[in-house]
Amino acid sequence: MNILLISASPHKTKSRTFLLAKEVLKGLPKSARVRTLHLSDTKIGFCRHCEACHRKIMNCPVKDDVRAVMEAMLTAGGIIFATPNYINQVTAQLKALWDRTAHFIHCRRLEGKYIAGVVTSGSGRNASVLEYIRHYARACGAQYMGGISSQRQAPAPEKKKEAKLLGKKLAQDIAERMTYPEEARFLEEFKQHFRRIMQLRKNEWTEEYRFWQEKGWLQAHAGK
Ligand SMILES: Cc1cc2nc3c(=O)[nH]c(=O)nc-3n(C[C@H](O)[C@H](O)[C@H](O)COP(=O)(O)O)c2cc1C
Repeated sequence: MNILLISASPHKTKSRTFLLAKEVLKGLPKSARVRTLHLSDTKIGFCRHCEACHRKIMNCPVKDDVRAVMEAMLTAGGIIFATPNYINQVTAQLKALWDRTAHFIHCRRLEGKYIAGVVTSGSGRNASVLEYIRHYARACGAQYMGGISSQRQAPAPEKKKEAKLLGKKLAQDIAERMTYPEEARFLEEFKQHFRRIMQLRKNEWTEEYRFWQEKGWLQAHAGK
C-alpha cells in the first residue's frame, strides 16, 4: 500500500501540521510504503490556464517539479494533504499544486484513491479548510475518507489517538475498497457534469476526450 503525505507548510519538519500528520502515519500498518513530500522543497509555479494539459495529457509548458508530484499522486493508494490554515484556506503552496492538476479533475485521475486532510491553525476553526480538501478530492474522482484538525499546540494525547485512528481507517479503506455512499453520489453527479463538458470541448481537449473514450465513460447509462 502506497501512501503519499503532501505537507504544505513552509515550516517543513518543524510544522505543527506535519507533526499531526506524522501521528496519522502511526496508524498505518508497518508494511505501508510512505512517501513524504514537503511542498516547500519543490518548485511549483502557477497555472497559466493555457490548457496544454487538456490537449496533451500531463504536458505542461511550465517546467518545474509538478510532473514528479503528479506522478507520485497517481501511484499512491492514499493521499494525506497536510496544510496549515491560511485565512481559512489551504496554503498558497498547496493551491498552486492543485491548480496545476486541473487535468486530474477533467479525467478523474484520482479515482479509486482515498484522501485524508490534516489541518492546524491558531484558532482551531478549520472546517472550511477540511471541506476544501474534501472538495478537491472528490473533484479528482477520489473519496475523501476523513480529516483531523487542531490548534497549533503540539498534539495532546487524545489528538494523537484520533490521528492514529484516522491512519488506521485510511489503511482499512484502501484494503477493503470502502465505498462511502455520499462520496459515491457526488462522484456520479460530477462525472455526469464532466461528461457534458467533454462532449462540448472534444475538438479542443483532444487527448482528454480520448481518455474518456478509452475509459468508456462517454456513454451515459439510461436515464443519466
Ligand atoms: C498567512 C497566514 C494566515 C493564517 N491564517 C489563519 C487563520 O485564518 N486562522 C487561524 O486560526 N490561524 C491562521 N494562521 C495561523 C496558522 O494556521 C497556524 O499557526 C498553523 O498552526 C501553522 O502551522 P504550521 O506550523 O504547520 O506551519 C495563519 C498563519 C499565516 C502565516
